[in-house]
Amino acid sequence: MCSQYCISLADVKKAHSDIEDLIHVTPILTSSILNQLAGRKLFFKCELFQKTGSFKIRGALNAIRNLTSNTSGDGEKPKAVVTHSSGNHGQALSYAARLEGIPAYVVVPRTAPSCKKSAIQGYGATIVDCEPNDESRTAVAARIMKQTEGTLVHPNQSPAVMAGHGTIALEVLEQVPTVDALVVPIGGGGMISGIAITVKALRPEVKVYAAEPCNADDCFQSKLKGEITPNPSPPVTIADGLKSSIGPYTWPIIRDLVDEVFTVTEDEIKHATQLTWERMKLLIEPSAAVGVAAVLAERFQKVVPATQDICVVLSGGNVDLTSLRWLKQPEGEQACAL
Ligand SMILES: Cc1ncc(COP(=O)(O)O)c(C=O)c1O
Repeated sequence: MCSQYCISLADVKKAHSDIEDLIHVTPILTSSILNQLAGRKLFFKCELFQKTGSFKIRGALNAIRNLTSNTSGDGEKPKAVVTHSSGNHGQALSYAARLEGIPAYVVVPRTAPSCKKSAIQGYGATIVDCEPNDESRTAVAARIMKQTEGTLVHPNQSPAVMAGHGTIALEVLEQVPTVDALVVPIGGGGMISGIAITVKALRPEVKVYAAEPCNADDCFQSKLKGEITPNPSPPVTIADGLKSSIGPYTWPIIRDLVDEVFTVTEDEIKHATQLTWERMKLLIEPSAAVGVAAVLAERFQKVVPATQDICVVLSGGNVDLTSLRWLKQPEGEQACAL
């Protein structure tokens, strides 16, 4: 642990050597149409092609590796791992735990879409239902930890998870040596914290920008007020991976090392999702499109010089295909039944 923040560049480098054999080095893709629309050169880091369909496997694998090597020095594995995430972290932790033969329990609101529950079960974890509120989630996770003698792997406030996510930046700095800034979608801030620690240690002149839905703008508000300001009520946004608020482990890093926060509307997120599907043929999920929406937004054009090379992290591609009713139809055409 470094003195100022809960992770350091050394943690990210260690994570990289521990997990590199188990993950993909995801490609960087470009698009002349998107460049034209943004008025600058864009580089897309395609974490939608990562194992389990999102960047989350980086942090989950590193957390499991840390637990396995930390337990009493005799190679003993943890009895179980527990988390509360119906989304990408739940899937990633299930996958990572299964690789090590560790039982995983994922606490999921009983209202979560069945496709998400099936995906988690598909990676071998046990689903435990809770009520759709924070109190129930925390209480059920605590009960399961007690019953199974399991260890909690938090989706975004675990230092090992954050360090695992920092490996994205190690790859980007090699793949795009000319990069001037990275744009990173933010929920609880685990991904951007790992990235910011890495970028500011290796290339301090490179900017790190957060992209956030207006409807879940706790990071923007926190930076404005200079203190953690969680979302006042459960956010309503199509970017379901970005509903979490930043927390005590990620806030100091975000406060000091994230250069700017760009917020985008629901319409901008939908437009950016559809544009990326149609123009780049990349099946990103709306949470990943928040970064694309940010670089296309007017405020970005005003704040960030057009000469800059920008890398947008396309963080995941786990799209719930049953939720596509919002797709915009060209004028005069009937909506097609999906
Ligand atoms: C696809 C996707 N992008 C971005 C994020 C945000 O990551 P973090 O919570 O670490 O900020 C998430 C979190 O679940 C996600 O699933």
